[in-house]
Amino acid sequence: MDLFEFQAKQLFREHGVPVSLGEVATTPAEAKAVAEKLGGVTVVKAQVKIGGRGKAGGVKVAKTPADVTAAATEILGMDIKGHTVHRVLVDPGADIQQEYYVSYLLDRSNRTFLAMASYEGGMEIEQLAVERPEALAKVPIDANVGVDDAKAREIAAAAKFPQELVEPVAQVLVELWETFVKTDATLVEVNPLAKVGDGSVVALDGKVTLDDNADFRQPGNADFVDVRATDPLEQKAKEKHLNYVKLDGEVGIIGNGAGLVMSTLDVVAYAGEKHGHVKPANFLDIGGGASAEVMAAGLDVILNDPSVRSVFVNVFGGITSCDAVANGIVTALSILGEEANKPLVVRLDGNNVEEGRRILTEAAHPLVTLADTMDDAADKAAELANAGK
Ligand SMILES: Nc1ncnc2c1ncn2[C@@H]1O[C@H](COP(=O)(O)OP(=O)(O)OP(=O)(O)O)[C@@H](O)[C@H]1O
Ligand SMILES: [Mg+2]
Repeated sequence: MDLFEFQAKQLFREHGVPVSLGEVATTPAEAKAVAEKLGGVTVVKAQVKIGGRGKAGGVKVAKTPADVTAAATEILGMDIKGHTVHRVLVDPGADIQQEYYVSYLLDRSNRTFLAMASYEGGMEIEQLAVERPEALAKVPIDANVGVDDAKAREIAAAAKFPQELVEPVAQVLVELWETFVKTDATLVEVNPLAKVGDGSVVALDGKVTLDDNADFRQPGNADFVDVRATDPLEQKAKEKHLNYVKLDGEVGIIGNGAGLVMSTLDVVAYAGEKHGHVKPANFLDIGGGASAEVMAAGLDVILNDPSVRSVFVNVFGGITSCDAVANGIVTALSILGEEANKPLVVRLDGNNVEEGRRILTEAAHPLVTLADTMDDAADKAAELANAGK
């Protein structure tokens, strides 16, 4: 999960990294109130999870509370590369002398952690990495040792910080490593880390990516979830522990095994070409043990998607045989009752397929159509979705 700047800087502050952090506002009036509280020059910053906000006009210096009102009015609602600004951070203005870059990240290809740092800020880091790679230090970090004062000084020296800055920058690097480890992050980035008027260094911007696999031991992570950006169906699926991704088509898909579901998306998209260009409405892998409960949970999510016009259930019986899946479908439909209101095309194959088909034929649910092959089923499901448009 990527965090907003204000959330990233909250974590930095909790772990001792010096930050410039004011308060967030969702209206120009709120922004003005924050500015009045902070006093002096402030900076109004768009809170979106995408880089290059400054260049897009999403970061504005404001000398007076009236300027803050104007800046917030302009920035709130702005679209930055497809991200709508719902919040601004009103930060105390910093007296910037110089800008630097520091980050830690999980370096998957080298199976290690990596520190990146540069004495030359003010340039986009991707651009710096390409145009002047020698100005961007990359120092691997041994996970068992981490970043102590000596390692931090090594990173600062590799990044060509002058002697008088090694001490304060190294201190920030140690605290930033602390943040990285304690929060189970896969990325912490400060761009810019700035030297300000009194000679100290402060994080003016922050980017943090948290590892969702660590949610179980990071109870605070739940508070960072951006409810506004979360699709309600994906949220519901997550609560039911389903592997679900919302797509923008009309044919609901349920399958077992990620590979089978991926190829189901393909055949449905292909069949849809002939039937009003309908497309898959989602990815949903109910996994190996396709029990009645999981089937019901999956159908519940899919049938609640208003864009779904038909559902394609594509199951290959393995450890969970086709008869168990067929019983799962029948039970799921009875659990859902009236909520099940869209046609289902079912294709079963594999272990115990005859018995599975017999169960579905006997149940003779009015919404269920059995298909022999995956292509037939895709065609039928697309046809039904098109008819229901
Ligand atoms: N609190 C502040 N006081 C003074 N200047 C600031 C402050 N915050 C940011 N700035 C200036 O604005 C520039 C851009 O800010 P920031 O790094 O937060 O956004 P960005 O880099 O454009 O966005 P992103 O990091 O999303 O690409 C900084 O490099 C800095 O010069
Ligand atoms: Mg930045």
